[in-house]
Amino acid sequence: TIYLGPFVHSQSLAELEICTQGAIGVDEKGTIAFVERDVTEAIAVAKHEGWESAELVRVQDNGFFFPGFIDTHIHASQYPNTGIFGKSTLLDWLNTYTFPLESSLHALSRARQVYSRVVSRTLSHGTTTAAYYATVHVASTNLLADICLAKGQRAFVGRVCMNTLSPDYYRDASVEDAVRDSRASIDYIRKIDPGAELVAPIITPRFAPSCTAECLSALGELHRETGVHCQTHISENKPEIALVKELFPERKSYADVYDAAGLLTPKMILAHAVHLTGDEVELIKERGAKISHCPASNTALTSGCARVRELIESGIAVGLGTDVSGGFSPSVLEMARQAIWVSRFVAMNDGDQAKLSTEEVLYLATRGGAKVVGLENKIGGFEVGMDWDAQMIGLGAVSESGEAASESEDPVDVWGWESWDDRVAKWVYNGDDRSTVAVWVKGRLVHQTSRYQR
Ligand code: GUN
Ligand code: FE
Repeated sequence: TIYLGPFVHSQSLAELEICTQGAIGVDEKGTIAFVERDVTEAIAVAKHEGWESAELVRVQDNGFFFPGFIDTHIHASQYPNTGIFGKSTLLDWLNTYTFPLESSLHALSRARQVYSRVVSRTLSHGTTTAAYYATVHVASTNLLADICLAKGQRAFVGRVCMNTLSPDYYRDASVEDAVRDSRASIDYIRKIDPGAELVAPIITPRFAPSCTAECLSALGELHRETGVHCQTHISENKPEIALVKELFPERKSYADVYDAAGLLTPKMILAHAVHLTGDEVELIKERGAKISHCPASNTALTSGCARVRELIESGIAVGLGTDVSGGFSPSVLEMARQAIWVSRFVAMNDGDQAKLSTEEVLYLATRGGAKVVGLENKIGGFEVGMDWDAQMIGLGAVSESGEAASESEDPVDVWGWESWDDRVAKWVYNGDDRSTVAVWVKGRLVHQTSRYQR
């Protein structure tokens, strides 16, 4: 297949490449075979022997191809609760809203309903890769992996571990249970997708307060033994940090709790990182662990404003996370906007250098996220050898009379006189899932709106 038309992707944190006349060839395996810039369709095809009969997919509705989004932190199990958090903060939110819902996904029928919906919904928002938390239940967790594989979403799927300070109705009974069940889910996911072409397991201690030191160490050992990725929460809210201090008095810091357990490695995704100390930033950087910035959640649960500029400048890989349902939206585009907003609130105190630009948040949503999940050579941009994980973005045109030029319900009006940079900015601020006309993962069409024409 040759994808024809404008494409946009990040070249570096600050630089977005906008190619207004592109041709990207994708082979049967879903790998990008060539990327041509500024050539006519005919020349693009003629230049590549054997591609004469390739299927052509053209950008429609004044749009462009953009790499699929990477959601580096999302609780699939909490999707039914998006928008439901009242005035709670983290620790009471967990007990009031979250544990009861997660516990209910013990029922496979309910898990199927929730997980089918969340995977479809995130695909419709252009999320081609997600790092998911499921629940403590092995069968439901495995079902989430099945659903990702069937719907074609790239995913890390984690069975949640929590053996202390958790409700009786929803917890691991022992360290042995946590390890055994984690192992069972790892084995299952490795069996259904042996090469981890699409779906991979991820070791998931919920966060330090819900795991004993023994449990964290056992999971660190499992990580060392299996080489599987890990994910957890860190330094999200102040009472949580105080609790960690109380529970782990022998440890220097929250980050040190994970480090002592052997969990602070290049394959660890740490969500939030709102209140890290300078020493913790240094330690995380040294260990090569990654950070998922969850701006909507941090605001909703009034956890705080992460100082993302500082994290990036320290050299830590940073991506964006919806943190559904601490975060109210399953859209990474919405997170890009929220990341811009939060950076402005930080800037009101710390100065203008804290502000993130449109280009920077789009980098975090794609290339940054790819680094966070360890797939920077495979996804996040349009390069030869990478997989075609992409979305077709459509922008509506305004006619001479001021009416929408087509029947599309596109939320972004394009007048025709904007620069391409401005079109992209308009998409970032006004776009939503209606702008995402079609989505591919590894070359497979995994979502399309009714206006997608083949
Ligand atoms: N810390 C421990 N569990 C959770 C969770 O489910 N969501 C968020 N945002 N923080 C957590
Ligand atoms: Fe979370």
